[in-house]
Amino acid sequence: MRMVDLIEKKRNGEAHSEAEIDFIIQGYTAGSIPEYQISAWAMAVYFQGMNEEERSLMTNAMVKSGDTIDLSGIHGIKVDKHSTGGVGDTTTLVLAPLVASVGVPVAKMSGRGLGHTGGTIDKLESVPGFNVEITNEQFTALVNKNKVAVIGQTQNLTPADKKLYGLRDVTATVNSIPLIASSIMSKKIASGADAIVLDVKTGAGAFMKELADAKELAEAMVKIGNGLGRRTSAIISDMSQPLGNAIGNALEVKEAIDTLRGEGPEDLMELCYVLGSHMMVAAEKARSLEEAKAHLKEAIQSGRALEQFKTFIEAQNGDPSVADDVQRLPQARYQMEVTAEETGYVTGIVADQIGTAAMMLGAGRATKESVIDLAVGIVLKKKIGDSVKAGEALAIIHANQAHGESIIQTVRQSFSIDKEAITPPPLIYDAIH
Ligand code: URA
Ligand code: CA
Repeated sequence: MRMVDLIEKKRNGEAHSEAEIDFIIQGYTAGSIPEYQISAWAMAVYFQGMNEEERSLMTNAMVKSGDTIDLSGIHGIKVDKHSTGGVGDTTTLVLAPLVASVGVPVAKMSGRGLGHTGGTIDKLESVPGFNVEITNEQFTALVNKNKVAVIGQTQNLTPADKKLYGLRDVTATVNSIPLIASSIMSKKIASGADAIVLDVKTGAGAFMKELADAKELAEAMVKIGNGLGRRTSAIISDMSQPLGNAIGNALEVKEAIDTLRGEGPEDLMELCYVLGSHMMVAAEKARSLEEAKAHLKEAIQSGRALEQFKTFIEAQNGDPSVADDVQRLPQARYQMEVTAEETGYVTGIVADQIGTAAMMLGAGRATKESVIDLAVGIVLKKKIGDSVKAGEALAIIHANQAHGESIIQTVRQSFSIDKEAITPPPLIYDAIH
C-alpha cells in the first residue's frame, strides 16, 4: 500500500477499508508515514468526511495504537462520563461520589488541565493530602471497596490520537466531526469503561458553537460507542456561559461540596442530576431516568452523597474534614470585586474569556510545565438573565498577587449587559441514545 494512493482515494471522496485505515494509523504511529502525508490526508477527510464504518475503524485503530486499561477486576458495570470541555465544569467532582453513593462503580482516570480548562486531578489535589499516584492494584481495590477512586493517567493511551490531534491543531483540521468523534471515543474506549455517558457542550464557550453541529457530533460518538459494544448515550448541554459559579481549583471543590449538600448553583445541580441519571441507567442501577433522579435526590438529601465524598477523599489520603469546613481548602490572599458599570440585565458571559482570566491568575497552565495556584480563581455573582445595578458585583476575583486593573477589565468585559432582559438559554438541549 502507498500512502499517496490513500490520500488520493480520500481526496476523491471514496471510503477506506479496514486494512487501509490500519495502515495509515499504524504507519503514522510508527513514524513510517511522514507528517506531510498525514496532513494532506487529514485535510481530505476534513472535506470528504468518513462514513459510519470508517469512523468505527478509525476509533479502533487508535485504541490499538497504545495501551488499554483493563477494569475487569472491578465488579459491576463501569460507566465513564466525558464532557467535551468547558469552563468551570465541576460535574466530575460531584458525580463521582454522587453516583458511587447509589451503587455505580466509578473508576476514573483523569488528567491535569492545560490552557483555560481545568483538570479534575488538579482540582482534587487542592484537598490537602489527596493522592492520585496510586498503583493499578490499589485503584481496583479502592473501587471495589468504596465504589469510587481517581487515578492519574500514566499509561500510554492512544498515542496515535496524541500525534494526530497535535498535527490537526496546526493544520486547520481539528474541526471535523469524524476526526473529533474518533479522537474522543478512542480515549474513552482505551480507558476500559463498559458504558459511556457523553456531555456535548454547545454555545459560545464550547467547541461546537452551533446546536446542529453539537448534535451531529453527539450522534457520531453514540454510534461509534454502541457499534464497538459500549453502551453510549449523550446529552447536549449549554456552554453559552460558565457552568455553576466557581472557576478555579479549590473554589470548584468548595462548589462541589455545596452541590453534594444540595446547596449548589441551580444549573450545576440540574446537570449533575441529568448526567447522573444517564449513568445510573447505563449501569443498570435504575430502570428509567425518572427513577434514577429520585435516587440521586435522596442520596443528596440524606447526606449519603457527601459521606461518600468524605470516604473517597480519606481513602486517597486527603483530609475529609474539608467537607465540613471549607476554610481548610487553600484560600487566596486577596478578593477583588468586579463591578458592573451600567444597570441592566446580563445577556452573555464569554466562558473562554473567564477561563483565560482564571488562567492569568494562576489557576490554569499556560504550558505543560507551569505550576498552578490551587487557591485562585473567579466566582460569578451574576448569570445570564439576572438583573444588575451599576456598582453591583458581577464576580469576585480570588488572587494571590496584586494583579491590578487589567484582570478586572478582562472579567468585566466578558459580561454583556443590556437594557432588555433575555430568557436564559436552556441547560439541556437534547439527549441521544
Ligand atoms: N477533543 C479531543 O479529545 N479530540 C478532538 O479531536 C477534539 C476535542
Ligand atoms: Ca463551576
